[in-house]
Amino acid sequence: MAESTMAEITLAEVTLAESAVRDRVREHYASIARQALAGKRSACCGADDVIPLEAIQVQDALPQDVVETSLGCGTPLEIARLQSGETLLDLGSGGGLDCFMAAKRVGPEGRVIGVDMTPDMLALANKNAEKVGATNVEFRKGFLEELPVADNSVDVIISNCVVNLAADKDAVFREAFRVLKPGGRVAISDMVSRLPLPEVIRASVESWAACVSGALVDEDYLAKMRKAGFVGVKKVAGGANRLEPVYSAKIVARKPGDVSRLPAGWDDMVPVANAGSCCDDAALAVRKGSCCG
Ligand SMILES: C[S@@+](CC[C@H](N)C(=O)[O-])C[C@H]1O[C@@H](n2cnc3c(N)ncnc32)[C@H](O)[C@@H]1O
Repeated sequence: MAESTMAEITLAEVTLAESAVRDRVREHYASIARQALAGKRSACCGADDVIPLEAIQVQDALPQDVVETSLGCGTPLEIARLQSGETLLDLGSGGGLDCFMAAKRVGPEGRVIGVDMTPDMLALANKNAEKVGATNVEFRKGFLEELPVADNSVDVIISNCVVNLAADKDAVFREAFRVLKPGGRVAISDMVSRLPLPEVIRASVESWAACVSGALVDEDYLAKMRKAGFVGVKKVAGGANRLEPVYSAKIVARKPGDVSRLPAGWDDMVPVANAGSCCDDAALAVRKGSCCG
């Protein structure tokens, strides 16, 4: 969709133009990428403790400065169950850490494509690729909402803390569905919310760029994926801490079709529910007279 024809996100009290969201998000990540290119470290969406940096470095033998360019909020590769020879697409690849780890797992017969809209991030990713000596990874400039990837061409899609940043999530899931091969799968780490966020927060582009305002309610996120055509859509981690209104979730899904290439046990992954609020029925039984009245 051309920027000039973009719809607007209408909230009860305010209207955020999709192009304004996209511009601010791009500026935000361009500035982080420029800092990293200048040798400075920064973090955005997630606390360091959700990314086991040391584990990554040991398992995948990647240089520490490349590992530190990660801006993710989780570890989608933990659930992606990559197999040698697969083609993987990373939505919003940033500095490329997940791509480099994936490249080792799919091996020389496999291929990794990272897509990102921010030129400075692509420069960082390409610089990192040189350091790592990655030969089966390529980075493409593009929007998640209009992927520069052929129909039915990838086995696995991963994404780490990016879909929340997109203004048009329906378009992102539609595109992901289009480029996946029949039977292909999705493994996502992303920020979602337990409840609808107050409009004053949803209306802040700053907070959007910091992975908060754009976070969908978890159930709405899954519903949008189902609407795009995915099956087996489930949250397999996240939401256990009832004190975190916005949290990092791991979500899996697949495109209907030939399941012969699915990793063993893929469809058996167990969905997790959120811990209840202090006002749910079970909690009420023990908390009557406290916070719930
Ligand atoms: C929070 S960072 C995560 C980067 C990477 N996945 C990681 O784990 O380090 C978000 C990245 O997504 C990119 N991005 C955000 N919205 C996008 C969109 N609509 N299309 C393409 N890239 C996008 C940004 O440029 C940025 O590099």
